[in-house]
Amino acid sequence: MLIQRRALRTVCDALERQAAVAIIGPRQVGKTTIALEVAEGRKALYLDLQSPRDRQKLADPELFLSGYEDRLVILDEIHRVPELFSTLRGLIDQGRRRGRRTGRFLILGLASIELLRQSGESLAGRIELGGIRHRKPSGRRPGPDHGKFLSYSRRC
Ligand SMILES: Nc1ncnc2c1ncn2[C@@H]1O[C@H](COP(=O)(O)OP(=O)(O)OP(=O)(O)O)[C@@H](O)[C@H]1O
Ligand SMILES: [Mg+2]
Repeated sequence: MLIQRRALRTVCDALERQAAVAIIGPRQVGKTTIALEVAEGRKALYLDLQSPRDRQKLADPELFLSGYEDRLVILDEIHRVPELFSTLRGLIDQGRRRGRRTGRFLILGLASIELLRQSGESLAGRIELGGIRHRKPSGRRPGPDHGKFLSYSRRC
């Protein structure tokens, strides 16, 4: 849990520097858990793009998301709707012109070369990518907690 607290701090710090922050990693590593903890204590909107209902809300993503400029918008399972990246670019740039420069989007997704390419191309200079992975507790043999320790590291 200590490592998770550190990961949480790293994500929050990144949100203070950059408009968008991505947590990329495999299944069941704790991405959603961390994002919901980040959302606690601040105005946030959580959308799960695996859910048809939440995807429906984004039928006109620009219209919908521009109503949440004052919140942290969490987009979980972004690999389901990768074309959103170019919309985010426009929204981030609009926000910047109004002085809303950091902490706008927290993006969660499964790691893939394609996802990294799409986010890098559309959001260069606007996103900080971080990887998250299972981590063995050091100095101990794997016990029941094995794989439940998180480490988040900045990639670029
Ligand atoms: N730091 C932690 N210590 C112990 N268990 C944790 C920790 N973080 C998350 N978990 C547990 O691990 C499981 C997976 O967490 P979570 O759903 O956040 O992962 P995820 O990366 O979003 O998975 P998916 O890609 O399948 O959506 C959950 O049962 C959660 O309660
Ligand atoms: Mg999840």
